[in-house]
Amino acid sequence: MSKDDAQKEILRLRAEIEQHNYNYYVLAQPTISDYEFDKLMERLIELETKFPELITPDSPSQRVGGTITKEFPTVVHKRRMLSLSNTYSPSELQEFYERVVKGLASEGIKEFEMTAELKYDGVAISLTYREGLFVQGATRGDGVVGDDITQNLKTIPTIPLRLRRSSRLALAETLLSAEVEVRGEVVMLKRDFEKLNAQRAETGEPLFANPRNAAAGTLKQQDSREVAKRPLTFIAYQLDSEALPDSVTHFERLELLQELGFYLAEGAVRCRSMGDIQAFLDKWETQRDSLPFEIDGAVLKLNDLRHRTLLGETLKAPRWAIAYKFSARQAETTLLGVTFQVGRTGAVTPVAELQPVRLAGSTIARSTLHNLEEIKRLDLYIGDTVVLEKSGDVIPKVVRAIPEKRPVNAVPIAAPTHCPECGTPLVQPPDEVALYCPNEEHCPAQVRGRILHYASRNAMDIENLGEAIVRQLLKEGLIEDAGDLYFLEKARLITLERFGEKSAQNLLDAIEQSKSRSFDRLIYALGIRHVGVATARALAQRFPSIAALQEASQAELEAVEDVGSVIAESVYNFFRRESTKRLIEKLAKAGVRLQADQAQVPKVVSEKIAGKTFVFTGALSVTRDEATRMVLERGGKVASSVSKKTDYVVAGEEAGSKLAKAKELGIRVLSEQEFMQMLE
Ligand code: IVH
Repeated sequence: MSKDDAQKEILRLRAEIEQHNYNYYVLAQPTISDYEFDKLMERLIELETKFPELITPDSPSQRVGGTITKEFPTVVHKRRMLSLSNTYSPSELQEFYERVVKGLASEGIKEFEMTAELKYDGVAISLTYREGLFVQGATRGDGVVGDDITQNLKTIPTIPLRLRRSSRLALAETLLSAEVEVRGEVVMLKRDFEKLNAQRAETGEPLFANPRNAAAGTLKQQDSREVAKRPLTFIAYQLDSEALPDSVTHFERLELLQELGFYLAEGAVRCRSMGDIQAFLDKWETQRDSLPFEIDGAVLKLNDLRHRTLLGETLKAPRWAIAYKFSARQAETTLLGVTFQVGRTGAVTPVAELQPVRLAGSTIARSTLHNLEEIKRLDLYIGDTVVLEKSGDVIPKVVRAIPEKRPVNAVPIAAPTHCPECGTPLVQPPDEVALYCPNEEHCPAQVRGRILHYASRNAMDIENLGEAIVRQLLKEGLIEDAGDLYFLEKARLITLERFGEKSAQNLLDAIEQSKSRSFDRLIYALGIRHVGVATARALAQRFPSIAALQEASQAELEAVEDVGSVIAESVYNFFRRESTKRLIEKLAKAGVRLQADQAQVPKVVSEKIAGKTFVFTGALSVTRDEATRMVLERGGKVASSVSKKTDYVVAGEEAGSKLAKAKELGIRVLSEQEFMQMLE
C-alpha cells in the first residue's frame, strides 16, 4: 500500500473511530458493536505501525497510552484554579444569596440569574486546546501550579483530542482557531468503580474506598497504559477563551462545550430566585442515587461573567459562587456481633456483623472495622445501635455508636487471643495496631490466601482458580502450596465434586500457561510481605534470577531503588524460610520460569549507550524490536517519541516527523551506520 493511500485510509478511520467514541461515551448511543469498534482500531494501529510518520497527536491510537513518566512536570495555570466556599446549611445558603443580591444592587443591578449544577465528586482538571488540538492537561495542584498529566488524560474517551466542528453555533467555529481552556472533573462512574473494585478484590489488590479515590489514584499513575485500562470520565463545567467575550454567559458556555464534543452531565439549570435554587437542590438530594456518577452537592454560580467581575473573589474562592453540600447518607442498625478475618499475611481484621439495613440503594449486613484501635475509638458494644454512613464513599462504614440506645445486656467486644482459623495464639508486633496469626506455614486462611494471591490477575493470572476451588483442593489434600498446582492430575481432579472432564482440562491448561509468566510477576506472586507489583519489577531487574534473589544480602536488596530497610528485611527473611525453599523447588521442578527474559537483562553494558535514550525513525535494516533489544541489552533506553530527554535519534530511510523534531530540539541524529558503530 502506498503512503498516500494509507494516509487517506488513516484519516477516514480516525474520523470514524472518534465519531463512535462520541456516540458511545457522550451520547450513550453506540451504533456499532464493541467488536466492530476494535476492528477499526486494530486497522488504524496496523497502518500507523507501517507508517509511523503518519501518527499525529490527535489520533485515537494515542489513547491507548504507552508513555511512562517518572515525575510529572509542573504547569503554571493561565487562570488561577480557585476552589469554592461551601456550606451544608440552608441558612448559610440564603445568606450567600442575599450577599449576591446586595453586592449587585450596590452596582445598580437588580436582575440577575444563577446557574445551578451538580457538584461532581472527582478530581478537578484543566485542559488546554490550541487551534482545536488538545495540547495540555493539568491537575489543580495548589491552584497556581499543577501537574502536567496530558498523557494520562489522553486515554480518557470523553476528552476530545480535537474539538468537534459544529455548524450549530457560530461561536464554536471561532473557538476552533483560538486557545481554549476547558475545566471539569474527572470521575469514575459508579458502575465502572464497582467493576474495578471487584477485579481488585479478585486479584487481592487493596480496594479503593470510593470512586473519587479511584479516579485520583488512577490519574497519578505513571504508566499511561495503566490509566488507559481504567475507565475514567471527564465532565466539563467551565469554558474560557480570550476569543469569548464576557457577554457570553456561563450557561451559553456550557452549551458551547456540548457542541465542541464534551460530555456534560445532565441537570444544569438557570435560576431566577431562591425558590428555583431550592427546587433544584431538593430534586437532586433525593435523586442523586439515580445518577451514573457520585455527587456531593450542587454548585451555584452567577450566570453573567460581567456580574462575576463586579463581585470579585477572595484569596481562595470567588464571591459569586458557592457549593452546597448534601449531607452524607446514614442509617441506623444493630451491631449483632464482630467476627475476625485472617488475611494471607496473617493480619486479623475485625468485621461488624450488622442487622441488614438498606442504605443508599444497597443492603448492608457487614462492614470492616479495620482494627482493634477503631473498635476502641468507637467504643462499640455488641447489641449497640450504630450509625452507618455512606458519604461520597460507596463502602459504608460504622461512624459511631449511640450510647443512649445501648441495651443493658450489651456485651463488650473482646480482642481475640487465638487465630479464629487455626487456634494459634495471636501476636502483636511492637509498632503495629494489627494482630497477627504467626502460624504462617499452616494457618489455613494464610495458606489459602497465598495460593489465591499466586493465581491472581497481576500475579500468575491463573484463570478459573477461585476461592471455592482452592478450598476444595486444600481440603482434599491435593495441594499444600502454589507449587503443588503444577502436579495436579486430571484423573484425580475429575473425581472431585464440581469438576468435569472439560473444567478439569481448562484448569490444568490455565495452570500450564502460567509457567511462562514473566519473572517479575513470579516475584510478586510469591506474596512476599510489602512487595507489590512495582517493587517486584524493580527486584527482577536487579536480580534477574531466583538464585540471585536468594543469595542477595539485605544491603544488596536495600540498594535497589524504592526498596527500604523494611522491604529488604522482609525479602531476606522470606528466602530463609523452609516453606519458601520447598515452594521454589517445586516451581523449578515444574518448569516455571524462574529467571528474567534475556532481553530484559543488560548483557553487555556499553559506556556509550548505558543511560542514554534512543528514538528510532524511518526504516532500518534490522527490525525496530531488534534495534530496541540491542540498546536495552547495553543498558540504554528506547522511547517512542522525541523529547528534550532524547539523547540520540537514529534515522533510517524515509525518516519523518521525528527527524524534524530532533532537528528542532537540537538532538544528535545518527545514521544507521553510526548507530551500529556505537554498538560495537
Ligand atoms: S466550579 C471557581 N463546578 O469542586 C469555581 N466546580 O471546591 C471553580 N467541582 O475544585 C469550580 N463540580 O473540583 C465547579 N459543577 C462544578 C463542580 C466543581 C465539582 C469541584 C471542583 C473544584 C471544587 C471546588
